[in-house]
Amino acid sequence: MRVLTLFAIMVLLTACGQQEEAEKKQSQPVVTMPQQNFDTARITRGGRLFKEYCAECHGDKAQGAANWRQKGADGKYPAPPLDGTGHAWHHPKKILLMTIRDGTGKLGGSMPAWGSQLSEQDMNDIITWFQVKWPDEIYAEWVKRDAQSN
Ligand code: HEC
Repeated sequence: MRVLTLFAIMVLLTACGQQEEAEKKQSQPVVTMPQQNFDTARITRGGRLFKEYCAECHGDKAQGAANWRQKGADGKYPAPPLDGTGHAWHHPKKILLMTIRDGTGKLGGSMPAWGSQLSEQDMNDIITWFQVKWPDEIYAEWVKRDAQSN
């Protein structure tokens, strides 16, 4: 009988120990934030291009149109935010580039195509400019998704 009780206590203690271990693991930071080591010259350049080509619809801080979640009278969505408060971070780099280059006209949207006016470098600099605005957690999640898409 005593042996059984002892055994039961040991099992309990082991279980507690394991739980403690698990809790310890949880309290440690789960992700290491990727550093947003962006080149300031590229950010400045991207910001200038954004104001020239994109701000008219997406807002000068990339905040998007006020009612971007609702289709307009034309049945199309207004320009969404690109500052991390919308969905742009769901898309890997190649999809962001494709949207900017080709627009969404073919998909029934009203984002214009910029491929004939902007170089790949221009588009990358613009993306860099708005990605700097993304909170660290959002950027970290995007980096993960972007890596998985390749
Ligand atoms: C004439 C208005 C207009 C201009 C100018 C414009 N956009 Fe857009 N953009 C839109 C609209 C509207 C959408 C949503 C498209 C859809 O729903 O199909 C969009 C969508 C996007 C998306 C996808 C966002 C997401 O959450 O999926 C990106 C990225 C984007 N635009 C970048 C740009 C960039 C960069 C520029 C400047 C080079 C630009 N846009 C200029 C209207 C515009």
